[in-house]
Amino acid sequence: MHVLVCSEPERPDRVSLWPSLGEYPIYDPYLYTTMTTDEERNKRFRAALERLAPGKHVLDIGTGQDILWARESVQAGARQVTAIEVIEDAFRQAAAHLPTYDVQDRVTLLLGESTGLEFAPKADVCVAEIIGSLASAEGAAAVLTDAKRRHLAPDGVIVPHRADTQAAAGCLSDILGEQHVAFSAESIPYLQSIFNWNTAPFDVRLRIENASPDALVSDSAVLESLDFNGTLHTVQQTSTRLTVQHPGRVDGVLTWLQLWCLPDDDPLDALRMKTNWASIYFPLFETPVPVEPGDTLDLTFGWTLSADGVHPDYQLSATLRTTDGHAHQGSLESPHRGGPFRAHPAYRLLFPAA
Ligand SMILES: C[S@@+](CC[C@H](N)C(=O)[O-])C[C@H]1O[C@@H](n2cnc3c(N)ncnc32)[C@H](O)[C@@H]1O
Repeated sequence: MHVLVCSEPERPDRVSLWPSLGEYPIYDPYLYTTMTTDEERNKRFRAALERLAPGKHVLDIGTGQDILWARESVQAGARQVTAIEVIEDAFRQAAAHLPTYDVQDRVTLLLGESTGLEFAPKADVCVAEIIGSLASAEGAAAVLTDAKRRHLAPDGVIVPHRADTQAAAGCLSDILGEQHVAFSAESIPYLQSIFNWNTAPFDVRLRIENASPDALVSDSAVLESLDFNGTLHTVQQTSTRLTVQHPGRVDGVLTWLQLWCLPDDDPLDALRMKTNWASIYFPLFETPVPVEPGDTLDLTFGWTLSADGVHPDYQLSATLRTTDGHAHQGSLESPHRGGPFRAHPAYRLLFPAA
C-alpha cells in the first residue's frame, strides 16, 4: 500500500490530515493524554459531575487508562463508582494506577464492553466520554441506549446531555490551505494500526486538525443530534439544505462536534475551540465545483448500525445546484470498517496505485 505523507513536522496550530481515530481500539498513552489535558472538554464534564455525582452511584463507561471521570466523580462526592474499559492494555494501566489515586475503596474497575457486562446495583449517573469528532462514530447511541435499559436506574442521568454534528460545504485542498493533501507523518502509525485491526486497508474517515471556519463556503446545519437524556435513536436520517455564502469551491462537507454536558451549558464547538476533537471531512464530488453565493447543496446524511451492533455505518448523498443551472450529484458510503478502498478520487490521491 502506498500513502501520501506530509513531510512538514506537526505544529500545535497547523492544519493537518489524520485518519479518524476514536472509533477504533487503537488508543495509546499519547491519545489518552490529549484527552486528559483537554481543559475545554474537561471543565464541562467536571462541572456536570460536581452537580450530579454527590452521594450517587456513578457508572463511567470507557474510563480509559487514566480513570479520569471515575476519579473526578469521587472528588465530586460520589458514593460509589463502577468504571468499565474495553481495551485490555488501558484497563491494566488503570488497574495498576488505581491504588496510587487512593480511590480504590469507592471505585470498582471492570474489563469489558459495557454492552456485554452485567453488574448491580443500577447506577444513578452515567458518564460516558465515547463521543466522536463525528458525534455518533464511537457508538454512543447504541451503548447509551443499552446503558439506559440495563445499567441505569429509571431516573438515571447521562453525562454528556447532548451531542450534535454540524456540517458545512467546502473543498478539501482549500481547507488544508498551504498543506498538501497528504496524511500527517505522525498519523501514519495510527493509520497502519487501523488497517491491521481491519486486516485490510479501506477508505478511512478523514480527520482534519485545526480546520478554520473561514475555509468553509456555506452556512451550517445539524446532521445528527444525540439527545442522551431524551429519545435516543440508533438509526438516523437527516435531509438538509446548505446555502453557499462565499464564492469558492466545493467537493465535500466538513463536519464537527457540538457538545453539551449539562442542558444549560455553553456548548463546546470543536471547530471554534481548541480541543482534542477535530473535524471530519467527507468527499462527495469527483472534482471541486466552483460555487457562488446562493448556490445550494441538498444533503442527505443517514446511518445504520454496522455488523457489531454498536458503531454506525454512514451514507451521504448530495445535489449541488449552481447558478449556471447545473445539478452536480455526489455520494459516499463510509462504513465503520471494511468497505471500498480507493473508491473516491480523494482516496485515490491519498493512496496512489503502486
Ligand atoms: C474517548 S476515550 C475516553 C477516555 C476517558 N474516559 C476520558 O474521557 O479521557 C473512550 C474510551 O472508551 C472506551 N470504550 C468505548 N466504548 C466502550 C464500551 N462500550 N465499554 C467499555 N469501554 C468503552 C474506549 O476503549 C476508550 O478507552
